[in-house]
Amino acid sequence: MSTFSAVDVITTKRDGGVLSNDAIGWMLNSYVAGLVADEQMSSLLMAIFFNGLSPEELRTWTACMIDSGERLDLRGLSRPTVDKHSTGGVGDKISLILAPLVAACGAAVPQLSGRGLGHTGGTLDKLEAIPGWRAVLTNDEIRDQLEEVGVVICAAGAGLAPVDRKLYALRDVTATVESIPLISSSIMSKKIAEGTGALLLDVKVGRGAFIKDYERARTLAATMVSLGNDHGVATVAQLTAMDAPLGRAVGNALEVTESVDVLRGEGPADVRELTLALARIMVSLVGIDVDPETKLNDGSAYEVYKQMITAQGGDADAEMPLATHRSTVDATRSGVIQSIDALQVGLAAWRLGAGRARKEDPVSAGAGVLCLVRPGDQIEAGQPLFEIHADDVEHLERGHQSLSDALVIGEGAVTPTPLLLDRIQ
Ligand code: URA
Repeated sequence: MSTFSAVDVITTKRDGGVLSNDAIGWMLNSYVAGLVADEQMSSLLMAIFFNGLSPEELRTWTACMIDSGERLDLRGLSRPTVDKHSTGGVGDKISLILAPLVAACGAAVPQLSGRGLGHTGGTLDKLEAIPGWRAVLTNDEIRDQLEEVGVVICAAGAGLAPVDRKLYALRDVTATVESIPLISSSIMSKKIAEGTGALLLDVKVGRGAFIKDYERARTLAATMVSLGNDHGVATVAQLTAMDAPLGRAVGNALEVTESVDVLRGEGPADVRELTLALARIMVSLVGIDVDPETKLNDGSAYEVYKQMITAQGGDADAEMPLATHRSTVDATRSGVIQSIDALQVGLAAWRLGAGRARKEDPVSAGAGVLCLVRPGDQIEAGQPLFEIHADDVEHLERGHQSLSDALVIGEGAVTPTPLLLDRIQ
């Protein structure tokens, strides 16, 4: 392999030039090997933040990230594989319902997930609220469970795109997270390495999303769709609104309970609507001609969910953990709920103990928020708006303060905003 100078590579990108495939490969491999220092990679990341990567550079950068580790081979399974990735939203428990639902339709869903950081929760944190449930599986266990149950939600192993861990940790402390080529390569390298044949990206946009601007979300979606398709993964992106929390529950155990409600044919209408819309895209991506609504209504998706939890050591019928302290946030005036700020609710759940500030922090299973009202509801002064749950009084108070500005009460009727925005394929 050719040898480059890290300083020359950084200079090229800093001055708006184009990096050769060899230079990108050398830089990433040398960084993993410890030959390129953190401060040099930080400079390159900042240069990419300002000057971007061309489509060709991004393809190579992503391919090198994938090649930094193993790639699961799921081609021998008897069902077609399709996964979903969400860029993260408040109350976004859709995976817990969607993955078993799509498996009930006949696909295999390898959902290799992460833990939450900041105001959006992680799927693994939610499932870990279930007594006994195990997030870490071997590659053989993943393949066996996909064949037998049709779905696995587990931790993405350290072997998948390992350079991403190092890069992400560096981006986090160098203000270079919010770069479209760096976000796209980070997400897509892990999803392509997991071996899925098809992928649906749920790109959240709005107040409670990682990306708040619609055009930026579209660009991120289109960039990830091209990367997936270039690497042989049939990829579609659905842009969805994340202005208000999804459903009522925000917090780990609270969200599992709400997901089970939806699997049993109950639960909030928006969670059900979004799950079914995403499930329809996923089954069509792999050519399965089944309407997911039939599998939700006849209980098959719930059966698959229980099998999935049991296969990973969990007790699907166990009582979910409850936080020890509860209180409500009440309306200070009468009127109509104009909006609920998903970001404020997410931050409140986090302050109540449901999320973590650093990746090694523990999370509380029971902490979180139940939103008792929706935009458009007529309310009276004194009526409870949120129910908050925490393990101690200090957390409860912090959550209470965060919710005081989370909701706007006005006079006029509210026009419902659509959940499903654009689709990119
Ligand atoms: N999620 C990821 O995995 N990577 C990013 O860069 C952003 C969100």
